[in-house]
Amino acid sequence: MRRLIFDFGSENVRMGVEGNRRPPLSEPAVVAHRVQGDVVAVGEQALRMLGRTPDGLEAERPFARGGVRSQKLADALLRSLLARTGRHGLRRPEIWIALGAGASAIDRRGLTVLAQHAGAARVHFCALSACKALGLDLPLFQPTGTLLVDIGASCTRVDLLSLGHSVASAKVDAAGDQIDDAISRLMRDRYNLMVGAATAQAVKHSLLGEGLAEARANGRDLVTGLPHAVTLDRAEVLPAVHQLADQIAHAVRELLRDVSPELVADLAEHGVVLTGGGSRLDALADVLQERLDLPLHRDMEPEQTVCRGLQLALEPTNGGRLRLRSA
Ligand SMILES: Nc1ncnc2c1ncn2[C@@H]1O[C@H](COP(=O)(O)OP(=O)(O)OP(=O)(O)O)[C@@H](O)[C@H]1O
Ligand SMILES: [Mg+2]
Repeated sequence: MRRLIFDFGSENVRMGVEGNRRPPLSEPAVVAHRVQGDVVAVGEQALRMLGRTPDGLEAERPFARGGVRSQKLADALLRSLLARTGRHGLRRPEIWIALGAGASAIDRRGLTVLAQHAGAARVHFCALSACKALGLDLPLFQPTGTLLVDIGASCTRVDLLSLGHSVASAKVDAAGDQIDDAISRLMRDRYNLMVGAATAQAVKHSLLGEGLAEARANGRDLVTGLPHAVTLDRAEVLPAVHQLADQIAHAVRELLRDVSPELVADLAEHGVVLTGGGSRLDALADVLQERLDLPLHRDMEPEQTVCRGLQLALEPTNGGRLRLRSA
């Protein structure tokens, strides 16, 4: 039976096929639908519609913070991804899902129903944090503390691992999206410019990912109602970066307060590993490093880590140790 692996992110869904070493297939986690419910477009095509839909059409994200927000829309997205695997994906595969710590019984149930609707013969869950550690080639099974900070779109997950298990974990409901929102607000309040979500994100990538000094954004002038362009300075968005870094650093400090001093001491030596798409924000990594005063390592391929780790988790040497539960 073919085994398929999934990382259901709020911004991107990624899928791999067991034994296939190529980068995972990735699809923006967006579905466009009519107000009455019919799905019109999924993934890349739906993403282009975001903020451009006429009355009667909406584009939405089916997943958020590790759970399913809309079963129907998630279903459409999953089916489209499975169709991309050719015949294999559709023949009652075994589906493995990386599941974050703190997922509720409802989250599990939602994902199980989703996979079963898509034709899965069996559904298994594997600890998301362990997948990340394996994907990053960190010493997961050693008696040493490893701290992972995954900065996604909707949330940041902090996990302390040792001997193959999560010792402590925390979730902050703030990540990349929060900076996009801050940029949109800044444009509106300071420049009377309404910009779409995709524009705000592109500005973030230019200023904070590529490190450009300024970025131009097109939108609608709130006074004239006409198209207008504004140039935003990198310094103007830095307060939003500081705010997110403070929230993440606070969560890390709270988490470390309750763990053994031996594990905390390990971190002083090995440091913290940043992953998730938000770890590509150079400015955020710099501020976090300052706030935590620990060595900080960054994932070079955060888009692939979870699926790569889940591939490794399926290998016979690791398999039994990481499975959380089957449905
Ligand atoms: N080059 C880049 N520079 C800056 N930010 C980036 C870059 N690439 C991706 N991002 C940001 O990373 C975030 C998405 O990360 P990721 O794909 O890990 O999220 P996700 O797994 O879908 O979401 P979540 O884990 O919150 O459910 C977005 O906020 C996006 O803007
Ligand atoms: Mg994620």
